[in-house]
Amino acid sequence: MKINVFNIVTFFSIGLFILSCKNNHDNDLAIIEESSVNSASEIESKVNKLLSEMTLEEKIGQMNQYTGFWDVTGPTPTEGNQALKYEHLKKGLVGSMINVTGTENVRAIQKIAVEETRLGIPLIIGFDVVHGFKTLSPIPLAESASWDMEAIELSAKVAAKEAAASGINWTFAPMVDISRDARWGRVMEGAGEDPYLGSKIAYARVKGFQGDDLTSKETIAACAKHFAAYGFAESGKDYNTVDIGTSTLYNVIFPPFIAAKNAGVRTFMNSFNEINGVPATGSAFLQRDILKNQWDFDGFVVSDWGSITEMIAHRQAKDGTQAAEIAANAGSDMDMESHLYVAELANLVQEGKVKESLIDDAVRRILRVKFELGLFEDPYKYCDEAYEKDVVGSKEIHDAVLDVAKKSIVLLKNENGLLPLKKEGQKIALIGALANDKTSPLGNWRIGADDETAVSVLEGMQNYQGNTLFFEKGADFVTGQTVFARELDINTTDKSGFNKAIAAATKADIVVMVLGEHGYQSGEGRSRSELGLPGVQQELLEAVYKANPNIVLVLNNGRPLAITWADEHIPAIVEAWQLGTQSGNAIAQVLYGDYNPSGKLPMTFPRSVGQVPIYYNTKSTGRPNIPSPGEVFWSHYTDISNAPLYAFGHGLSYTTFSYSNLKVNKVSQDKIEVSVSLTNTGTVKGKEVAQLYLRDDYASVTRPVKELKGFELVELNPNESKTITFLLTEKELGFYNNQGEFVVEPGDFTVFVGGSSLAELEAKFELE
Ligand code: NOJ
Repeated sequence: MKINVFNIVTFFSIGLFILSCKNNHDNDLAIIEESSVNSASEIESKVNKLLSEMTLEEKIGQMNQYTGFWDVTGPTPTEGNQALKYEHLKKGLVGSMINVTGTENVRAIQKIAVEETRLGIPLIIGFDVVHGFKTLSPIPLAESASWDMEAIELSAKVAAKEAAASGINWTFAPMVDISRDARWGRVMEGAGEDPYLGSKIAYARVKGFQGDDLTSKETIAACAKHFAAYGFAESGKDYNTVDIGTSTLYNVIFPPFIAAKNAGVRTFMNSFNEINGVPATGSAFLQRDILKNQWDFDGFVVSDWGSITEMIAHRQAKDGTQAAEIAANAGSDMDMESHLYVAELANLVQEGKVKESLIDDAVRRILRVKFELGLFEDPYKYCDEAYEKDVVGSKEIHDAVLDVAKKSIVLLKNENGLLPLKKEGQKIALIGALANDKTSPLGNWRIGADDETAVSVLEGMQNYQGNTLFFEKGADFVTGQTVFARELDINTTDKSGFNKAIAAATKADIVVMVLGEHGYQSGEGRSRSELGLPGVQQELLEAVYKANPNIVLVLNNGRPLAITWADEHIPAIVEAWQLGTQSGNAIAQVLYGDYNPSGKLPMTFPRSVGQVPIYYNTKSTGRPNIPSPGEVFWSHYTDISNAPLYAFGHGLSYTTFSYSNLKVNKVSQDKIEVSVSLTNTGTVKGKEVAQLYLRDDYASVTRPVKELKGFELVELNPNESKTITFLLTEKELGFYNNQGEFVVEPGDFTVFVGGSSLAELEAKFELE
């Protein structure tokens, strides 16, 4: 039976069922065991006992977070803001510190909180462990291209272990913001454009950071951020206004946050943006109604850096007093660096503008997490210097980050089997300043890592000694910039290196060009209006191509790029993102075929920036198809195709795969099995991410043309086949309507299965 657009009243009359939003992702729910329930109740009594002993001032102190403000091992600050912060620390008016790392420093600062304040409540020590601490994994967008949840979980696990060994007990990760806009610099920090993939990754990363035991010395508390909708900044400009409808909020933005919550994430961070006219930091709808009430979240919410103060610039609050009042009432539990709670909240409580019960609620949440981390039992458990020396930079961590780096690489194009490279007898010209860079591959959000610690592509390729390798930068970097001006590096207009690069290409059998963005060209505050290769790199590519078209283009970048010319001319293109500490080794192993690439794009690549935002799970529109050649009045551009350059989910291998025999088996009304046969039709062993997309053909609230609802990473030998079975339950079949209710509507559905979002095998079924 087909269902046309109809209203909510009709739903009930035809037997539609509405599911509670709370339980939508329950398949993923962490099982709470008997013993942890007991210890949870013990923790509650301890929290309540402590709370009853605290003065209002001390309670508010727990809600105050400062960034590290002096060299803890040097003299204490005596003047200005720093002296005030120091005084607060000694009075027990600081609940958390961030950006203090190293066992020695953390111990020194913890000692003040524990030994010099009245109640001795330990600090929770936060840090942006986004894709590693000292030893870096690929940037999160890259890791997401692995579609390998075990590898992603392992990457977060080793990051937690290394950070915890260095004194940290709380990371501000994962960032689970869905984004469809490659102009937004922070796409590098997320899992891309898709809520289903994003939810699986959010779950895996929280599990990796937190493990099953927060009291372990190897785990840290995670933080799902930025709640909410930060990735939907208008025009991709960081911190910009967000204005979106209910359907997008519930169906696209919320799911990864729900997955993080279901994985047991202990904290959330709110966001800088306003959403539909309300700054997220001051949104009671988001923080109280949705997160704490509907989702039953019992951890705490930290503001983003200074975001309480920013509510004044947003023009919601007229001054800091009002900003503190709105944020505290809205459910922002901890103030990161606005310094407003500590200054304003006590008066606001006395005046009756903020209820003390809300302060108690916030403090209870913060203390709960501190107890769960075991900080009261041993505040110095993260401060073991000998252990820190053993763990930081250990082989175990390097092995794990190399593993995930290889898995993150996406083979975008490979004509005439140009890749893998032959291991002997070749003259290879390696060109591009990024090829020799040992900092850029670390990407952005790597504040714990030292510059120049990544393995460069040049170093990685030098491990293969059967060929003759010669390197030329082609376009030089401007040197001597500070870290935050790094984005200028690759924008040099200097073409003096071109001739040497052309000469190298001329005498080579194969040219490997490493081009793209410097690690600091994406990330916070790094939005771009153009998505081509920055600086003179496009000119360099074209000049080298004239000399020798036998080019393997290795891209290093933190976001999808519009590389249409390269796609039309360059025979082999490898998306190698910013892969972290082991970058060059991972790239070399893929180029030489010691690792067969299996990554798939987590974000659509546009043909031009004018197509952005571009994403696969679009709506149909009223005019989706070309009525007849030459017609104008349909949804399209007159100067460019609607198709992306590379579709979401795209990625090749050194082998080939074929899909056949798609079958749908309706086990029950809300249980559909979809099976397909996958065969390795090439000559080498390889891995493929088989993807299932679903369309609810007609619905009361229009649904996307297709949505990812299942995937499986499968490894096959040549000529080997495997039947893959996907299960669709109400969770996959339903959606949130415009009342925020999760519904499954009867009617026709179409499934598509294949190796990307272009999946062509399709079958239909009907729900009664
Ligand atoms: C601002 C960023 O938006 C947030 O993601 C980060 O965790 C904080 N700064 C702390 O560094």
